[in-house]
Amino acid sequence: MNRDVIIACDFSSAAATFEFLDKFTDVRPFVKIGMELFYAEGPQIVKELKARGHKIFLDLKLHDIPNTVRKSMAVLSALDVDIVNCHAAGAKAMMRAAVEGLTRPDGTRPLIIAVTQLTSTDQETMDRELLIHHPINEVVMKYAKNAAEAGLDGVVCSPWEANDVHSACGEGFLTVTPGIRFADGDAGDQKRIMTPDAAAKAGSDYIVVGRPITAAADPVAAYKRCVREFLG
Ligand code: C5P
Repeated sequence: MNRDVIIACDFSSAAATFEFLDKFTDVRPFVKIGMELFYAEGPQIVKELKARGHKIFLDLKLHDIPNTVRKSMAVLSALDVDIVNCHAAGAKAMMRAAVEGLTRPDGTRPLIIAVTQLTSTDQETMDRELLIHHPINEVVMKYAKNAAEAGLDGVVCSPWEANDVHSACGEGFLTVTPGIRFADGDAGDQKRIMTPDAAAKAGSDYIVVGRPITAAADPVAAYKRCVREFLG
């Protein structure tokens, strides 16, 4: 199914992650694992989550020369994760190498999506530090098109950009969108937020939801509400 709710498991240890996931007795949510947890616990955390029946988005954002990315992606592919990502800033040759590295001898591979311009870099930082002088939304769309041309499956973007990404790259090109909040929830440090049902209407294929679920008094109820609102 290419539409789902992914819980951002931003925990610092396997123990904290499993303490959280043990609350889910009748469902096995799709989970996102980031650099902190992967660097702390290594590939074993991925193997344990797969053994428990979770789908995994491994959010390691690879960015290096094509040969290094190709070989590293082959290692991640062997872990049988479901989604991986890399920086579109590595350019098309690197992204093509990433797809090659991920592809198993039988032709199957995990989905791969690109990070476009990090949301932590604003226009001023791009201008002054990175010498990227095009408007940020043009940069995001150009990076998304590069990713599509390199054979990637989609991008991480704001739900506010999902429609434009689909127009530029095709309806089948996946939009994986963080920045999700319930209508009655706290925005926290997220600026351009959307509710799960609005994200669905905006064309998000996957929503990535962290604190509205992980910090909820009842995380399982919050997850189920999110699924209900997003998938209808
Ligand atoms: O807790 P919250 O719902 O804000 O978590 C969102 C998740 O999505 C976090 O893991 C965060 O690092 C990630 N993310 C994001 N914005 C981006 C890219 C990734 O919030 N542009």
